[in-house]
Amino acid sequence: MQEKLQNIAKLSQHYGANPDFVFLGGGNTSVKDEKTLYIKPSGVALATIQPEQFLAMERQAIRALFTTELPADASGREAAAKAVMAAAVRPLGAGRPSVEAPVHEVIDYSYVVHLHPALVNGMTCAEEGKAACAKLFPEALWLDYCDPGCTLAFVVKKALDEAKAASGKQPQLVFLQNHGVFVGADSAEEIRRLYEHIVDTLKRAYAQAGVAVGVPALGEPDRDTLLASAPALRTILGTAEARVIVHCVGAGEAQGGPLTPDHIVYAKSFAYRGAADAAGIAAFVAERGYQPKVVEVPGKALFTVGDSLKDARAVAVALANARQVQALAAAFGGAHFLSERQYKFIENWEVESYRRKVSLATGAASRLGNRVSVVTGGAQGFGLGIAQTLAANGALVVIADMNAEGAASAAKELCDAYGADRATSVAVNIADEDSVAAMFAAVTKDFGGVDLLVANAGVLRAGSVKEMSKKDWDFVTNINYTGYFLCVKYAAKVMAAQIVDGKGLWSDVVQVNSKSGLEGSNKNGAYAGSKFGTIGLTQSFAKELVTDCIKVNSVCPGNFYDGPLWSDPERGLFVQYLNTGKVPGAKTVEDVRRFYEDKVPMRRGCLPVDVARAIMYCVEQAYETGQAIPVTGGQVMLH
Ligand SMILES: NC(=O)c1ccc[n+]([C@@H]2O[C@H](COP(=O)([O-])OP(=O)(O)OC[C@H]3O[C@@H](n4cnc5c(N)ncnc54)[C@H](O)[C@@H]3O)[C@@H](O)[C@H]2O)c1
Ligand SMILES: [Zn+2]
Repeated sequence: MQEKLQNIAKLSQHYGANPDFVFLGGGNTSVKDEKTLYIKPSGVALATIQPEQFLAMERQAIRALFTTELPADASGREAAAKAVMAAAVRPLGAGRPSVEAPVHEVIDYSYVVHLHPALVNGMTCAEEGKAACAKLFPEALWLDYCDPGCTLAFVVKKALDEAKAASGKQPQLVFLQNHGVFVGADSAEEIRRLYEHIVDTLKRAYAQAGVAVGVPALGEPDRDTLLASAPALRTILGTAEARVIVHCVGAGEAQGGPLTPDHIVYAKSFAYRGAADAAGIAAFVAERGYQPKVVEVPGKALFTVGDSLKDARAVAVALANARQVQALAAAFGGAHFLSERQYKFIENWEVESYRRKVSLATGAASRLGNRVSVVTGGAQGFGLGIAQTLAANGALVVIADMNAEGAASAAKELCDAYGADRATSVAVNIADEDSVAAMFAAVTKDFGGVDLLVANAGVLRAGSVKEMSKKDWDFVTNINYTGYFLCVKYAAKVMAAQIVDGKGLWSDVVQVNSKSGLEGSNKNGAYAGSKFGTIGLTQSFAKELVTDCIKVNSVCPGNFYDGPLWSDPERGLFVQYLNTGKVPGAKTVEDVRRFYEDKVPMRRGCLPVDVARAIMYCVEQAYETGQAIPVTGGQVMLH
């Protein structure tokens, strides 16, 4: 058995890693001997499954399903079937078997690989799929659509028993209408051969019909529609507790209707088509009984909706697959959609299903509840530390930095720590208006909006007023002063678009200022001036943007002595201040450092986490705007 388990694991990994065969983890595999069925459990991916992860089930106990009397109503029946399956697991409680376990059981062959490949579903989801199947795969069994769960097991068993009675042997290919294919064989090589045969045969048929096999391309979204519709949709589709993500996949047509159970689970049966307004969505919800997961603004933009970027991307994968299957079905008379009774069964069943409950449990309950948070200058220093704290508290973080490589690696670090798609990166020069506009368009394309701008990117050039070059002056001013204006300008437009008919959740701008914005700084006029100036901007923007439900505050950190700005051995401020003679009598970098630490009542420099906590306060509180909050260990006190 050990060798067989290794074979089935290898087969599973082979197909699981190939998106032509498996999307969003659909499908399952098994191997059996006389007594035991070893099957891929729910919650384990085909692509990575190991031999020891296959769940052992006692075949005799699975068979009890076919002799037990089950309740007549669908949910009672499925619950009873689930209990029979759970009782067949050895040892009891070792894992969760798929609802398709009894189908694997009734197939005579020792290896079974069940997949939902788009190439196959182009035929199973086609009006003339059955006739095409009879012609292309005369040796195969075709089964008309039936509800998944134990109904499917009964139907497959009956059909296989009949086929065997007629020909002495079960067919090795079982095509399921609007679902996928079961392939059975007594060796792993034969499974591979059979799948090659299926793929080659179908590819030839598509070629003959002049149908391309790839995912049909989408166009570029209309930028104005994107910037107005996506933020509005976030509000219309979100709730006071949970912000949603509206992810733009381009422009083009949504799925035409419900194709397979997988598509319904991820993308719902129907997409919303129309303008992104509250009345249109309300009418859709009233008709369908759920909020759309796919929104098509005809000719302008196509969106997917999720509780997080990861969810929205999963919907996008299902949508792409549906669009591909639909295009392929043109080879066999066009797409055949599930009937109302059939898709409603899946919709109701899905409501009770495990995976939906799991995905709903993430993100929303955290302190920052999926707030889309853009952190400029997040590749290093304070910005990186702030990004880490925000991500740890449930924000979706966009690292926006001129240093594209640093931003990408910071985002990767956050995803490794907090989960796939919890952070992304974007290259930006905040002093360049086009670059800032493009950055917010890119963020809106990914997430649908922005809830928090942490305007952190800033630079410092120290120097005497008598010596400082105009070039250095402009450099500091363009980034620290003008750059803040540009970021707020474009962030505020997106945030304001999240207020629909006067309703929406509050957004935040938090600028990372400095204690040098509260008190002058010797031989550091360009910097201090830019920081004082931006407090004026914060106060002014706060007064204006309050009507768009945007709070605007600054936090004013003391010196981050451990960060690169101060401690970089070549360009750090300790070295610069030593060289410019800013600290009288200082002979070494250590002298300069001690001089500065001694100025702080709390006797230490400011840390990124101190700044992050102040930012969290700005976001969580609901009764303050236009403030500049010191984070200085007592060094600067307001009066
Ligand atoms: N370090 C301190 O002691 C200190 C103290 C008080 C306030 N601050 C403020 O905190 C903020 C962050 O400072 P830090 O010390 O962490 O800086 P840092 O130099 O360590 O990092 C700044 C980041 O901003 C990026 N950046 C610079 N110019 C940019 C531009 N034009 N567009 C996009 N990204 C740009 C850089 O690539 C870098 O990743 C600044 O606004 C600074 O004024 C720093
Ligand atoms: Zn299936």
